[in-house]
Amino acid sequence: MAMVEVKDLKKYFPVRRTFIDAILGKPQLYVKAVDGVSFDIEEGEVLGLVGESGSGKTTTGRLVLRLIELTDGSVKIDGKDISKLDVEELRRFRRHIQLIFQDPMASLNPYMRIGDAVKHPLDIHNIGSPKDRKRMVLEMLERVNLTPPDEFYKRYPKELSGGQRQRVVIARALITKPKFVVADEAVAMLDVSIRSQLLKLLADLKKDFNLTMLFITHDLATTKYVCDRIAVMYLGKIVEIGSFEQIYRSPKHPYTKALISAVPEPDPKKKKEKFIPQGEVPNPINPPPGCRFHPRCPFAKDICKTKEPELKDVGDGQMVACHLY
Ligand SMILES: Nc1ncnc2c1ncn2[C@@H]1O[C@H](COP(=O)(O)OP(=O)(O)O)[C@@H](O)[C@H]1O
Ligand SMILES: [Mg+2]
Repeated sequence: MAMVEVKDLKKYFPVRRTFIDAILGKPQLYVKAVDGVSFDIEEGEVLGLVGESGSGKTTTGRLVLRLIELTDGSVKIDGKDISKLDVEELRRFRRHIQLIFQDPMASLNPYMRIGDAVKHPLDIHNIGSPKDRKRMVLEMLERVNLTPPDEFYKRYPKELSGGQRQRVVIARALITKPKFVVADEAVAMLDVSIRSQLLKLLADLKKDFNLTMLFITHDLATTKYVCDRIAVMYLGKIVEIGSFEQIYRSPKHPYTKALISAVPEPDPKKKKEKFIPQGEVPNPINPPPGCRFHPRCPFAKDICKTKEPELKDVGDGQMVACHLY
């Protein structure tokens, strides 16, 4: 059994109608932010979820942590259907599911000392004695390289750099030893040099804690150190999913190819052919018929305009939703 099982997940946000619209009987429209997404994550595995802004990644992450309610489908974590938990059960289950958000300044209370912020989840979930808690926090601060830990324990968020603050957020997310973590653009706001340090830290923590994680990013390059598998999302759907190697070495979907071609090549001697799709991401209120990518796809055929492609196995578990295969 996989640690995380997501089946046909959907989230339709109703578009606000004016009173007049309602009286005139105009139909209720929906933003189909997530429109039938399925994936599994094994214990100890990190799945990258990549795609341009607006593709539905954050909504997917919030749904799998039940921070928002789903429209349809199911999410199971360690065999538990989380949409079936009542308020009290969900409150208790929260220690097992944690979120690392992109902006540490927004997710840390400026008046709370670092140590107390990291300790907070232990207090809420009543884990360990007060003395245990302090020791656990000091160990965790050390583990995320905020040393000496007793120094950092006493500091406030504003006294830390952006990279250090994100380490605090990671420490706080891991302190309850969660079964599943969602990292949503966890390194997006950091400078490039600091970003790679944080990614290496996440890769180390993944090994140490046998982390099961959904790693959300708009930047495919950041999947490098941490992701075992990658799912590519476009307009509320997964268009391709496969191992890190499969996605990097033999991307199949034209959209995946486009994302790969946009990853900067560190070796300037190896010139890559760049292929950037034309136009903009269409509006998810009225997604294009057929394949949602067809208006931007240089290889689109007639069938792509009318028939929606299903995810198909193209070998060794690599799945692609494209009529070219
Ligand atoms: N609360 C909401 N109400 C209405 N539309 C939303 C809401 N949240 C997100 N959306 C829309 O859903 C789509 C997907 O958004 P999001 O999940 O944030 O994508 P991503 O994280 O990939 O950039 C976007 O078109 C966005 O405008
Ligand atoms: Mg997002």
